[in-house]
Amino acid sequence: MDQVKIGRFIAEMRKQQNLTQREFADILKISDKTVSKWECGNGMPELSLMLPICESLKINLNELFSGEKLTDADYKQKAEENMMKLVKEAEEMKKNIVGGKVLGQVANVDRNVIGAHKTNTEFWDTIGSKFLGVTALPSWGGFLPSEDKLGLLEDLSGKSVLEIGCGNGRSLKYIADRGAADLWGLDISANQIERTRDFLSSQGVIANLVCSPMENDCGLPCNHFDLVYSVYGIGWTTDLDKTFKRIYSYLKDNGVFVFGWSHPIHKCVSVENGKLIFSNSYFNEEWYCADMSDKKIMLSNRMLSTYINALADNGFIIDKLFEQTDREKATEAGNDYGRKALMLPTSFVIKARKL
Ligand SMILES: C[S@@+](CC[C@H](N)C(=O)[O-])C[C@H]1O[C@@H](n2cnc3c(N)ncnc32)[C@H](O)[C@@H]1O
Repeated sequence: MDQVKIGRFIAEMRKQQNLTQREFADILKISDKTVSKWECGNGMPELSLMLPICESLKINLNELFSGEKLTDADYKQKAEENMMKLVKEAEEMKKNIVGGKVLGQVANVDRNVIGAHKTNTEFWDTIGSKFLGVTALPSWGGFLPSEDKLGLLEDLSGKSVLEIGCGNGRSLKYIADRGAADLWGLDISANQIERTRDFLSSQGVIANLVCSPMENDCGLPCNHFDLVYSVYGIGWTTDLDKTFKRIYSYLKDNGVFVFGWSHPIHKCVSVENGKLIFSNSYFNEEWYCADMSDKKIMLSNRMLSTYINALADNGFIIDKLFEQTDREKATEAGNDYGRKALMLPTSFVIKARKL
């Protein structure tokens, strides 16, 4: 989708309706900053907002996706083109769970906390949103069985819950629907925090949102949470030990910490002509910089034992580790990623507890 063209079109149609950015934002129950961001071509509206946008701007979905008014003669062809683009983007997104990509040509770099935060914030503040959607509850990521099957989250009614790396807020909504009373989200990206705020407020959900790297002291309350969780967030930390220490301090005694992340073996094995090729060392935990679309991300691969030992070193006991593939999901995918997931784990999820 052409974000810039769509943004210009939204601005033009909004003005035709004699609406200011503020008035338009109020109708959609979002912030005017978000409207301004779309209109400058720096982001796309959430799917849940597409219909309300069309209604207020008196346009149809096909025109919104095309970024222009359409005549009856253009309509059918554009609808076909837009459907094709949406399907392709959805497929790309599934292949590229960010942070879970198989390492191809990547540059090893020194571990540089400020550099990693800057690079990754820029990614998540701009094009990162395109990749969200597959890493939200009830999915713990990749081809893992979903939460409905795994049942890792206990009874949440009345509970205090914190999500680390809350992205666009879809998982927090899932947690709210299960009766949690006190919701918190943390994310390094101001843009993602804004998206979460907009989405949750459109759903009537109230949450405390904090913009900070998870490794830093950001004033979150100690001994407060019954559950801290993360779906494809934890691996972004520049300091696993510090992060687990902080999460331990946020939890009440016997509080639960659940997180899903890309399985380290998945990044070592690529698929070439239908064959699995071991192309990277499982033991390599060096930092690397990789291209994602026209931006960069900075991460390191960590062995499973690194996660387990860091949890143990910080006082957690481990309740469960799941790494099995949901075979039905992987078979249904019918692509290389699915075929690979039938042979090795692509994600893992750990449930740990504060002693
Ligand atoms: C793959 S996304 C998962 C988000 C969420 N589960 C979802 O699908 O909406 C990773 C999230 O972690 C955030 N993130 C990256 N590095 C971080 C850090 N050091 N501290 C806190 N959040 C971070 C990103 O901004 C992004 O929103």
